[in-house]
Amino acid sequence: MSGNRLEPVLDPKALARQLANKLLIDGALAPAVSGRSFPVVNPATQEKISDAAEGAAADVGVAVAAASKAQKAWAKLAARERGRMVYECGRLLNEHVEELARLITLETGKAIRTESRVEAGVFADVLIFYGGLGSELKGESVPFKPGMLTLTQRDPLGVVGAIIPWNVPLLLMALKIAPAMVAGNSVVVKSAEEAPLAVLRACQVMNQILPPGVLNILSGDGPGCGAPLVAHPGVGKVTFTGSVETGKMVYKSAAEKLIPVTLELGGKSPMIVMGDADLDKAVEGAIIGMRFTRQGQSCTAASRIFVHQSVHDTFIDRLKAKVDVMKMGDPLDEATDIGTIISQQQFDKVKSYISLGEATAGAQALKCSKMPSNDNLSRGYFVQPVIFTGLSNDHRLAREEIFGPVTCVFKFNDYEDAIAQANDTEYGLAATIWTRDLKTALDATQRLEAGLVQVNQNLVVQANMSYGGIKSSGLGKEASLEAMLEHFTRKKTIIVNLG
Ligand code: NAI
Ligand code: MG
Repeated sequence: MSGNRLEPVLDPKALARQLANKLLIDGALAPAVSGRSFPVVNPATQEKISDAAEGAAADVGVAVAAASKAQKAWAKLAARERGRMVYECGRLLNEHVEELARLITLETGKAIRTESRVEAGVFADVLIFYGGLGSELKGESVPFKPGMLTLTQRDPLGVVGAIIPWNVPLLLMALKIAPAMVAGNSVVVKSAEEAPLAVLRACQVMNQILPPGVLNILSGDGPGCGAPLVAHPGVGKVTFTGSVETGKMVYKSAAEKLIPVTLELGGKSPMIVMGDADLDKAVEGAIIGMRFTRQGQSCTAASRIFVHQSVHDTFIDRLKAKVDVMKMGDPLDEATDIGTIISQQQFDKVKSYISLGEATAGAQALKCSKMPSNDNLSRGYFVQPVIFTGLSNDHRLAREEIFGPVTCVFKFNDYEDAIAQANDTEYGLAATIWTRDLKTALDATQRLEAGLVQVNQNLVVQANMSYGGIKSSGLGKEASLEAMLEHFTRKKTIIVNLG
């Protein structure tokens, strides 16, 4: 993109209108080929804030052609030079953190202080992290026999199709585009219907540095725009974050072309609190783990909490007391801790799970915090955080991903039983154990079936810590050097006869 540097626009409504009806292809903003668009809604008020261009197969075709052309020159740059540009994107995005935080708050209803500003900062940081890894795209020399030089090298895969969800769109996009580009691929992103604006703005900012066509972004719905992207013959790799159901469709479609796929899907992450745990830390960990500040809309949400009977009641009391003082309200207000659910559809889904739990004999639903009282938020998708007790681990609320502020707490007596129940799930994304006993802690790290196991803490994605699930939670890893090497390159073996 030529011309003057984009200045941050701190009025999110003005920025939302400015980005209306645009895709970003080959370095330029343009409407969809069809001219069609769909509304973008503020979930805190149900007001329409903009329209997003409705990309479809024709737009996928144009974007993949641009990406394919750009990729050839991009791959010929020195790896460190590509990394430098990605790093520069991260540096520049640091100046847009506030702008992106406000825009993402407006379109997703996530609280700005606890969620959106953090996400925008981590987004820039992931680009800076991967920007430094260009020189790590190393191959090997393989001992074969005298007179033969045998090498492997890592080549890019070509055009990467990246499909992202709405819950943490900037961060989840960064985990895909940064390693893909540093490794020499170009990318076509398909944003989520509910949150197309902040990611578009971020790509527009990055296109001031990147050559045109290296990073393209489409908005549109799943079947109309996502599916043709996955199926396009010019796309050599698909990386997807979203639901298990859609992930399976993506995997099947990619199988038709025999291309590699990375899938980050759902979770039903267990947290085990032993009788000897530091309870205050465990309560804090449950709140962070459950992502109550994000209305529980997280694939790693600690939605099944197993607490030893000796501390069960105290744990519940302290958890409820802490969540009670969290403030639900206007997501753009600095005082707000908890924003809204993303959409009517997700709101209805979450509410129906809560009703189902409440209708279950023996179950108790502890509703925490307070609904906001502001009149202008009366149509907002706010749900009070709920702690369920008295459900069993085979109840639907304990088996299915709710993607809302709902956690189930179970009482256990026996550690072996807690481990067995924790593992008794279709998912395997993350798990935590809370104890002061080293032997128990280490034993649990070995036995909990999850891609990420943490002891006495509940951190979120960290740069260079491989992140990704097992079982139905997905395939492959993100966020690390290994993720770039294993998922965005392919190895070529070269044998040279020196004789
Ligand atoms: P989804 O998996 O349908 O959507 C994720 C992305 O996939 C969006 O960009 C969507 O447009 C795209 N997509 C949908 N159908 C597609 C298709 N046939 N081909 C290619 N791309 C397609 O998730 P949705 O409908 O937004 O939410 C449903 C449930 O999924 C949630 O309640 C939650 O349980 C789960 N979810 C999990 C996420 C995670 O981080 N693991 C993120 C978002 C949702
Ligand atoms: Mg869907």
